Amino acid sequence: MVSETVSVQYKPDGVALITFSSPPVNALSVNLRRLLALNIANVVADRRAKAIVLCGGNGTFSAGADVSEFPEKLGKSENLITLDTEPFQSLLESSPKPTVACLSGTALGGGLELALACHLRVAVPDVKLGLPELKLGLIPGLGGTQRLPRLIGVEPALDMMIHSRIIDGTEALKCGLVDRLVPVSSHEALLAEASALALEVVADPRKKPPALLTRTDRLGHMDIQEIRAKYLPRAVEIRQRTGQIQFESCVRAVVEGVQCGGGHAGWQLEATLFRQCAASDASHALIHVFLASRKTVTGFKPEPHIHEPQNVAVVGGGLMGSGIAACILLHGGRVVLKEVNDGALAAALSRIEAIVSRSNSSFEDIKKRIEGTTEYDRRLFGQVDLVIEAAVENVQAKQEIFRALAECTGPHCILATNTSTINLDLIGETIATVHQQGRLVGAHFFSPAHVMPLLEIVRAKRTSVRAINVVLALAKRIRKTPIVVGNCAGFAVNRMYFPQTQVAFFLAERLGVHPYVIDRACEELIGLPMGPFRLADLVGLDICESVNRVFSMSYPERVCSGTMLTKMMEMGRKGQKTGAGFYKYSTDRKKRMEDSEALDPILASLAPSGARESLSPPELAQMILFPVANEAMRVLEEHIAEKSSDLDVASVLGYGFPAYRGGLLYWAQNIAGGPGLILERFDGMELAFWGSVPALRTFVRSAASGSERKLAPRASVTPPFGAWQGGRHCLRGGCSDPNWEGRSRIAQRYAS
Ligand SMILES: NC(=O)c1ccc[n+]([C@@H]2O[C@H](COP(=O)([O-])OP(=O)(O)OC[C@H]3O[C@@H](n4cnc5c(N)ncnc54)[C@H](O)[C@@H]3O)[C@@H](O)[C@H]2O)c1
Repeated sequence: MVSETVSVQYKPDGVALITFSSPPVNALSVNLRRLLALNIANVVADRRAKAIVLCGGNGTFSAGADVSEFPEKLGKSENLITLDTEPFQSLLESSPKPTVACLSGTALGGGLELALACHLRVAVPDVKLGLPELKLGLIPGLGGTQRLPRLIGVEPALDMMIHSRIIDGTEALKCGLVDRLVPVSSHEALLAEASALALEVVADPRKKPPALLTRTDRLGHMDIQEIRAKYLPRAVEIRQRTGQIQFESCVRAVVEGVQCGGGHAGWQLEATLFRQCAASDASHALIHVFLASRKTVTGFKPEPHIHEPQNVAVVGGGLMGSGIAACILLHGGRVVLKEVNDGALAAALSRIEAIVSRSNSSFEDIKKRIEGTTEYDRRLFGQVDLVIEAAVENVQAKQEIFRALAECTGPHCILATNTSTINLDLIGETIATVHQQGRLVGAHFFSPAHVMPLLEIVRAKRTSVRAINVVLALAKRIRKTPIVVGNCAGFAVNRMYFPQTQVAFFLAERLGVHPYVIDRACEELIGLPMGPFRLADLVGLDICESVNRVFSMSYPERVCSGTMLTKMMEMGRKGQKTGAGFYKYSTDRKKRMEDSEALDPILASLAPSGARESLSPPELAQMILFPVANEAMRVLEEHIAEKSSDLDVASVLGYGFPAYRGGLLYWAQNIAGGPGLILERFDGMELAFWGSVPALRTFVRSAASGSERKLAPRASVTPPFGAWQGGRHCLRGGCSDPNWEGRSRIAQRYAS
């Protein structure tokens, strides 16, 4: 049960210390805000208090509003903000007694807005301060768009809000966000400094700053037209392209608030725009991903006594291994790196150096924590807590590696593989005893491993609980979001995405659709960071081919065989790492260019009839993604993944599916036009190799029975699928009903 408390301590020197608490991060729930308002009002009226110091319990100020309340509360109460939050902020700001906020831990979102309502702020150096509401499709709604510009200036404030930038105490002191910094992060020192500052103002009331909402001295001589020109066009472009209105709303609230000549008027506008943002599809989707990403391992209870692995060996320092090693090193771990020979080892080390240098860390320092080897050296491997294998995607090669690892590592050491597809039980066959097989676990990183925030942890038949826990502990250390999944070819994430490449290659090879057209449809309409062909180039076409082989063995009825990959490989075009794949790359691999001159003859040789299918970009995008949603449903049916929200998180963090669409299944169900429409379109595709779609029918049933949250029928602000909702774009007999109720009826039909 959450315990929300507000306590007041009257000190002999006249300082009233108000401490609010809601473990673990003092989230400002509606209830806590009410309690705060009550206590602040009492203290302001109490003669014993000459000054007020406001501080959070649990070693932190506040991480902001309680986001878990958002989907329920927002929209239900139109006046939520003005009704229950304005009073306590106004009470602090208009108090005749000086109010000082003590900032430690985090003061984010509503937490920082609460601090901004105080007259003064004192912080510790490592505090995290920011207004990151835009990440959730919202804008600050407790006066932040008005007070922050009046405290630090319009441009710095807009930059902080638009980029959801978090700053520390030292930077906050420089820009004027805090008034004093205590030299060390000590709670006692912070309280003492805040009390001293409050009493200085009591002694000399001229030191009390005017209420921020009425202040203009820090607004500077900015030209409002310049501010508009700098921020609005991009914000409008984002709204038009993605349906996210928070960027434009934030700029308007700041600009209009400043122009109106008063923070109070600006705050009214902020409240209106906040409510509009909170009602937007994009905000619902972003909050869904935010909440879902915090409960990805609810089905697996982490063991508290497991320590984060300090010494990790990485076998294979190619694209993935070097990224994994760099990631561990950047988070303070030690790495033993094994490669096949000295040349490969040197190349791996220079890849790691490049990654480390790009992150502004010193490679000289980090170098001391890497030990390179080309042997399974017991002296080195005997000391590691965890091995992550990232060698070639080949069953026999991996079996050999794990046979050697089982012998050269200690019995406590966990053996993880970064295989993208291979069934772990196959890899484990060469590990001698059942007991030893308990050490084997999947630790599947996504490329680039040092950047992508997802870590898929795979539990094979014999994987021990301890093995999962050690990898969970690593995930925590290197700040990855883990999902724990079952074992099958491709596991949960690559398995659900394997149809994406299948369909893309099918479209290019059999229907003559140009790869660049497919990539553009996925990138520009859906907002994927890269289309399937760019992704194949990044992963490496050789790896794609191996992956294809694994899927062909495991799901033969759903695999489309072709020769395009082989032809590309024969021409030495293995993707970005060889300088050419479906695209060509500059020698430093940084610049990607289309390469029709080389690609078109290959495509022509694949579709001899030369017949080009004319599919619209929205049709292409749905043909690529609906089969992915279908496979995701199979993954859930087979209990490979625990819940659909885990797959949403995986699609966002592992494959870059836009968070503002809520993840793949959320998008398919809530935004793309409803499940009935999906099924109808899917049946209409008549993909010869695809077979039936049982999982999608289950999906339709669950949606029609209301077991998943659906958005109210309304004109969607997300553009991509508006275009094909009319019958004009029907594809081969699959006819879509432009009317939402009609689509609902289809869903009901399948549900009955
Ligand atoms: N490329 C991706 O996007 C991606 C994503 C997730 C997982 N994976 C998986 O990660 C693994 C590695 O993929 P990659 O893209 O880094 O391949 P890569 O070809 O870039 O690197 C493989 C490296 O392993 C080394 N190697 C081979 N056998 C070895 C051995 N016995 N001991 C030590 N080193 C050995 C090779 O010399 C090479 O440097 C594969 O299993 C792949 O499926 C790849």
